[in-house]
Amino acid sequence: MARVLLTGGCGFIGANLAPMLRARGHEVRILDNLSRGRVEFLDDRAAYEVVQADIRDESAVIAACDGRDAVVHLAAYGSVVESVAEPSENFSINVEGTFKVLNAARQAGVQRVVFASTGGALIGNATPPVNEGALPRPISPYGASKLAGEGYCCAFAEAYGMSVTALRFANVIGPISWHKKGAVTAFFKAIMNGDPIRIYGDGSATRDFLYVEDLCRGIVAGLEAALPRFNVFHLASGRETSVRELAEIACRVGGRPEHPIVHDLKRPGEVERNFATYDLAREQLGFGPSVSIEDAMARTWAWMQEQPR
Ligand SMILES: NC(=O)c1ccc[n+]([C@@H]2O[C@H](COP(=O)([O-])OP(=O)(O)OC[C@H]3O[C@@H](n4cnc5c(N)ncnc54)[C@H](O)[C@@H]3O)[C@@H](O)[C@H]2O)c1
Repeated sequence: MARVLLTGGCGFIGANLAPMLRARGHEVRILDNLSRGRVEFLDDRAAYEVVQADIRDESAVIAACDGRDAVVHLAAYGSVVESVAEPSENFSINVEGTFKVLNAARQAGVQRVVFASTGGALIGNATPPVNEGALPRPISPYGASKLAGEGYCCAFAEAYGMSVTALRFANVIGPISWHKKGAVTAFFKAIMNGDPIRIYGDGSATRDFLYVEDLCRGIVAGLEAALPRFNVFHLASGRETSVRELAEIACRVGGRPEHPIVHDLKRPGEVERNFATYDLAREQLGFGPSVSIEDAMARTWAWMQEQPR
């Protein structure tokens, strides 16, 4: 059992991860500025200590690290598209913020940090499938910010003897994602509102989609593995899915197979093709996805149906 500080714990992935950490016997303190997340997303508000603060607030983060065995750092600024529009804000939260979290952990004597990185945006336009040996060449400020974060993770592990694991998430699907702006949420909202599904580009761009429960099991494994120094793993499905296929799955699980799909201009910063192998995570963390994209989409659709519009 570990005493964990979970940054960004009131967001999509954090609110799915928090109960899983608790179920494993870990004690969870959350630090979140509630810019995107909400305490209402948590399964049981009373089960968590929630500190409302910004990760760039040095003294707040040092105080939140007090008495913790580990930090799981999820808090970050949005998406590829938002980072292209707001590169300074993205840099401030994702690079400066990650540095401050690592530095606070060091000062508070927390030896173990797990960092939420990203697969596709960090690697850029490499020929997939990619793995941990691929040369990162990000094409968006968001991808660059995660690469910079990994750089600091590696440096802190080596310079201060900390154990830091960067987990490169695929595109995550699942409940508690109503506030997200990615394709899955946008497609489902379009179906629910009777609007056409809007695809940016011709739909041939590909992604690697992973169900949030599978991802969170990987995060827990990354936290619990006693790995020395710096390690990086792709947490992915290993399956390549085009955006067009994703839209068609959304229509099928939404019960509207003929729902209209329209196309718009491709957006800058978005990679063309991406999917990753997870062999290293399977070997070292026992990671393996168990939910297919169809099931992941169906479960997410079912969850969205239960939400107040
Ligand atoms: N969702 C995905 O598909 C995906 C894919 C790859 C990587 N990631 C990474 O996973 C992590 C979690 O993503 P998510 O999808 O849950 O996003 P989210 O926006 O739902 O959650 C992020 C949380 O961080 C909080 N936050 C943002 N800025 C903050 C700040 N300055 N100080 C304190 N808290 C702050 C928000 O309020 C929110 O609760 C992020 O680091 C993201 O980059 C997500």
